[in-house]
Amino acid sequence: MRYLTFALAKGRMAKKTMELFEAIGLPCEEMKDEGTRKLIFVNEELKLRFFLAKANDVPTYVEYGAADIGIVGKDTILEEGRRLYEVLDLGIGKCRMCVCGPKDAADKLKHHELIRVATKYPGIAKDYFYNKKHQTVEIIKLNGSIELAPIVGLSEVIVDIVETGSTLRENGLTVLEEIVGLSARMVVNQVSMKIEHERISRIITDMRALIQSREQDGR
Ligand code: PRP
Repeated sequence: MRYLTFALAKGRMAKKTMELFEAIGLPCEEMKDEGTRKLIFVNEELKLRFFLAKANDVPTYVEYGAADIGIVGKDTILEEGRRLYEVLDLGIGKCRMCVCGPKDAADKLKHHELIRVATKYPGIAKDYFYNKKHQTVEIIKLNGSIELAPIVGLSEVIVDIVETGSTLRENGLTVLEEIVGLSARMVVNQVSMKIEHERISRIITDMRALIQSREQDGR
């Protein structure tokens, strides 16, 4: 039996994801050692390999087949636009992609003014403003702390992730428009889906059942 390889987005979602895999009988003991510098973790018995990668790279590993399955946020899937199958919403890491800014920027959005939009997600921002709103804007790519941009005058608005809303509140900004709801998704390599159909469909079915039962329990 060949190894089935999983690419997980590094960060807050990885631990929750491994809890879900463990709950459907796919544990990885090696991964629980938080002090380790290992990059790849194996469950020899079940022939599973797990690795952690930068979120943006997960769709790349999956498209090229270096990982059969990936777990990554919908934001990254949309931004990267890779060829892969998105098969399941894991219901974790729920948040929203929004256009945000100071309250008075709402008018500029309404009147389709030529404004500057700062974001870590230029692909999503471009699709939203050009294809959905048909508004010409200037998009400025940033790499983090996006909320700074309208405060220091780099842009009128931002396109960014809002989870609790506290970063916005504490910086005098607000949600102006909602673009899309986000959460962690399972993605599958298109060839793996065929050659490992049985193992992968089983994982999808078991995971879907687990998520549904947890949602019913309100967890
Ligand atoms: C994300 C996002 C917001 C914040 C939203 O940033 O870009 O800044 O979380 O969360 P909240 O609504 O609960 O306040 P992240 O912490 O990932 O870091 P970044 O600034 O480097 O993007």
